[in-house]
Amino acid sequence: MLAFKAEEQSQLQLVEREEIEDEEDLFEAIDKLTAHGINAGDVKKLQDAGIYTCNGLMMHTKKSLTGIKGLSEAKVDKICEAVEKIVNFGYITGSDALLKRKSVVRITTGSQALDELLGGGIETLAITEAFGEFRSGKTQLAHTLCVSTQLPINLRGGNGKVAYIDTEGTFRPDRIIPIAERFGMDPGAVLDNIIYARAYTYEHQYNLLLGLAAKMAEEPFRLLQKLAQMLSRLIKIAEEFNVAVYMTNQVIADPGGGVFISDPKKPAGGHVLAHAATIRLMFRKGKGEQRVCKVFDAPNLPEAEQVFQITPGGIADAKD
Ligand SMILES: Nc1ncnc2c1ncn2[C@@H]1O[C@H](COP(=O)(O)OP(=O)(O)O)[C@@H](O)[C@H]1O
Ligand SMILES: [Mg+2]
Repeated sequence: MLAFKAEEQSQLQLVEREEIEDEEDLFEAIDKLTAHGINAGDVKKLQDAGIYTCNGLMMHTKKSLTGIKGLSEAKVDKICEAVEKIVNFGYITGSDALLKRKSVVRITTGSQALDELLGGGIETLAITEAFGEFRSGKTQLAHTLCVSTQLPINLRGGNGKVAYIDTEGTFRPDRIIPIAERFGMDPGAVLDNIIYARAYTYEHQYNLLLGLAAKMAEEPFRLLQKLAQMLSRLIKIAEEFNVAVYMTNQVIADPGGGVFISDPKKPAGGHVLAHAATIRLMFRKGKGEQRVCKVFDAPNLPEAEQVFQITPGGIADAKD
């Protein structure tokens, strides 16, 4: 199955931030329900099912909630009523939507040119997918983001921790050291703020995502059966916890097309991934160390491209 194969080839990097002033109105912890007549035992059942916030609860259907052991239809109705008192999930005005977008954090890629192309950097509340030929810098950008995410906001970072789910075995912690030094950060501390998991199977990856949501809700650090469901889970987590999700996706070689990368417009995962990712970036090689990033699809960015470079210190502007 193509979708399955695609997931094996992709990497997911979930980037978390913390201690941002208006964080508290971003999500409401699920245990607030106890103040609205829901007993602690039922709250615990929700948590055990991976639901840690009121916002997260509203992303589930009533049908799936009644599927949780010990929660009857009547209980679920009561829970949903209580949640609606805590979180407004109805219409908001365009002005309020604009205000909401202000909570978006943009994390530097390490290249100013690339940041400008992206409207400031890799965004929270969204999935950014990088696809393109091998050696084009997708994984190097992931490594650079592992570090830049931890920079303070005023240095164009995300002031947060990083979760790295590695499905292809290409994470190199030793690469983090020179990148951290380049940004003037303590490599040991930077490495301590990255949690890493190597995912070998689809099921493993699913469980890692569930565990991550739990971690994010408690620390408060921030972050399903088919590929589409896994990705829909990711976008929900991105929106629930104001997290940036960066994932890489290698272009598949056409089995009938010999050794050539058949069509750079066809990332592995095809349309399933395309619909889930908010921002899609196409990477390709340029001359020498140079690489090119093209905005392939984004709701708020023009289709344009920029040259960048891979350096020992990570992604940077091209020298030319
Ligand atoms: N320490 C480093 N210094 C400079 N360039 C590096 C370093 N490590 C890897 N690279 C370059 O990064 C490229 C691989 O990029 P990568 O992000 O792994 O590609 P992909 O798009 O396949 O994920 C190679 O061209 C390699 O030379
Ligand atoms: Mg790679």
